[in-house]
Amino acid sequence: MSQKVLVISGSDRQGSFNTQLAQQLAAALQAKDQEAEVYDFSDVPLLSQNTEFPAPASIVKLREDIGQAAGLILVSPEYNGSYPARLKNLIDWASRAVVAGDNETPTVLKGKKVGIASVANSTYGKFVRQHLSHLVPYVRANLMEGEGLGIRIPAEAWGSGQLELEAEQQQKVDEFLAAYLAFLQEA
Ligand SMILES: Cc1cc2nc3c(=O)[nH]c(=O)nc-3n(C[C@H](O)[C@H](O)[C@H](O)COP(=O)(O)O)c2cc1C
Repeated sequence: MSQKVLVISGSDRQGSFNTQLAQQLAAALQAKDQEAEVYDFSDVPLLSQNTEFPAPASIVKLREDIGQAAGLILVSPEYNGSYPARLKNLIDWASRAVVAGDNETPTVLKGKKVGIASVANSTYGKFVRQHLSHLVPYVRANLMEGEGLGIRIPAEAWGSGQLELEAEQQQKVDEFLAAYLAFLQEA
């Protein structure tokens, strides 16, 4: 099994702050000798039960990648107090049986170790983290304890477009990653 952590951004916005955080998390994991990548799932179509079986090639690959991953970190913006549709769509696909009607075989999400992070406005992504904290166990994945990592978009970031973390925020990132790495080590 690959030991790779897939860091999944809920935003495809050019210059997305969540994708920037995802890149920072992946780089920090790599610096700690933990394989990691920001996962590109731009080819995942909108799920329709009319075209679910056989799964499109992009979904076969998605399932392989998640199945082989050591864990996932979801880094998501907050859209109206919840998660964006593209992230839910990804999880919906991964949560489904490979063969129609097979409800016995575990999905690739079963027991997968998941951490949650968000870059958002004044809520610090509290609501999207809450919603993800409900969704992740619902699909039988293994959610890291705690409230996840919540980062408020620094005021300057809207001007510069760059997510430059303040010292206090960087400390939260470091603590989150340390906790996530410990979580990965748990049996
Ligand atoms: C449809 C929509 C709903 C939003 N709702 C919220 C919200 O509930 N809370 C919040 O903090 N920001 C909200 N925002 C603002 C986003 O947090 C902001 O655009 C952020 O930069 C998006 O993340 P990104 O930079 O990773 O794309 C919303 C944005 C959109 C497009």
